[in-house]
Amino acid sequence: MEKLIQSALDARKNSHAPYSGFAVGAAVESSSGDIIGGCNVESSSYGLTNCAERTALFRAISEGHTSFKAMAVVSETGASPCGACRQVIWDLCGDIPVIIAKTDGSNITKTASDLLPDAFDDRQLP
Ligand code: THU
Repeated sequence: MEKLIQSALDARKNSHAPYSGFAVGAAVESSSGDIIGGCNVESSSYGLTNCAERTALFRAISEGHTSFKAMAVVSETGASPCGACRQVIWDLCGDIPVIIAKTDGSNITKTASDLLPDAFDDRQLP
């Protein structure tokens, strides 16, 4: 868990957040124990911004990882994943623990289903 949080902190250093000034880092641990980090990347058109959680996950998928066992997200205030990220975490990871940490070192752990109860997913597709 400490390694995952440290990787999210490391990824946060690369945050590209010129509009909000709010740096976020995330890291996801694959089933084989690899850790892949990501940061938030903002766009001048705001809505195209990619959160740290999705950056980490999309990076992991693009590098060939397919199964995940935990995620950490770190920000100054201990921000909780946004709605879009909650859906993507559920879709790609299932009911993993999500460590939500502050840069001061404090953290809480929620599960993906805590974050997105009664989720829509591919089981509801025809
Ligand atoms: N953000 C994340 O990267 N993850 C979160 O969990 C919450 C929000 C980013 C998006 C945007 O770059 C900035 O934080 C302010 O919303």
